[in-house]
Amino acid sequence: MSSLRLAVAGKGGAGKTTFSSTLARTLARRGHRVVVIDADSNPNVAVALGCDRAQAAAIPMLPTGLVSRRLDGGPSLTEPVPAVVERYGAVAPDSVAVVHMAMPAHADEGCLCSAHATVSGMLADAADLPDTVTIVDLEASPEHLSRGTTRHVDVLIMIVEPYWRSLETARRMSKLAAELPVPHVGVVGNKARSAADVEAIAGFCAGAGLVLDGQLPWSDGVLDADKAGIPLIDHDPEDPVVGAVSQLADRLLAGLQPSVATT
Ligand SMILES: Nc1ncnc2c1ncn2[C@@H]1O[C@H](COP(=O)(O)OP(=O)(O)O)[C@@H](O)[C@H]1O
Ligand SMILES: [Mg+2]
Repeated sequence: MSSLRLAVAGKGGAGKTTFSSTLARTLARRGHRVVVIDADSNPNVAVALGCDRAQAAAIPMLPTGLVSRRLDGGPSLTEPVPAVVERYGAVAPDSVAVVHMAMPAHADEGCLCSAHATVSGMLADAADLPDTVTIVDLEASPEHLSRGTTRHVDVLIMIVEPYWRSLETARRMSKLAAELPVPHVGVVGNKARSAADVEAIAGFCAGAGLVLDGQLPWSDGVLDADKAGIPLIDHDPEDPVVGAVSQLADRLLAGLQPSVATT
């Protein structure tokens, strides 16, 4: 397999971190190299992956001085991605590597341009990594899309819950995403408690012209794992959400159909 770069977006609480971390562990167990970039200002993917709290708290932010320019003008890193991951990342169970995007340390520190450029450069460079899946767990705000931080991903997944505001967020995000050269933009439904919920998500996607890549059911096991501070895949490898993520992993590795025409 060549590299696969995937960004996970959606409204706050939709299930981005649950999906990103479960997918990362699933792919790593299948023998792929997996790097997770936590791009949320309230980073929690390391713990969701299974790092202990002290290890997660010690993960440094990616220095913004790592970014330079590519010959084609886009951002690039000054060092190879594996070296950056080794130096600044932590290793979670199943050898998943996790790095933290830089965030302002103080309320009025403002500009995040170089932090976004670092992630963008890392994603651009990750295209050349063999058999490596890079997953970016995004913040709920559409800034990652409007700033083009995620322009270098192969797949953008929007996680939605079966209620109107969540679905509407996906519609709005998909408009922004359509302006980026991302080959596949798709929706993954989450927390469906009934056939009617599954239908609501499918119907909305069909009506809005959004590609539905799959659905994850509601599971009390996800909440139980969360409360216990244990990754879902360790809490219960047989949980239906783990099964549904595994099926999505199959489809991702097989190569999703392009959802938009790229030039
Ligand atoms: N399929 C699911 N079934 C039940 N609860 C879920 C499911 N997916 C996520 N959750 C719960 O929803 C909350 C938000 O999930 P999280 O992955 O942190 O969302 P996000 O990263 O989008 O903010 C957490 O309490 C999590 O346990
Ligand atoms: Mg999250």
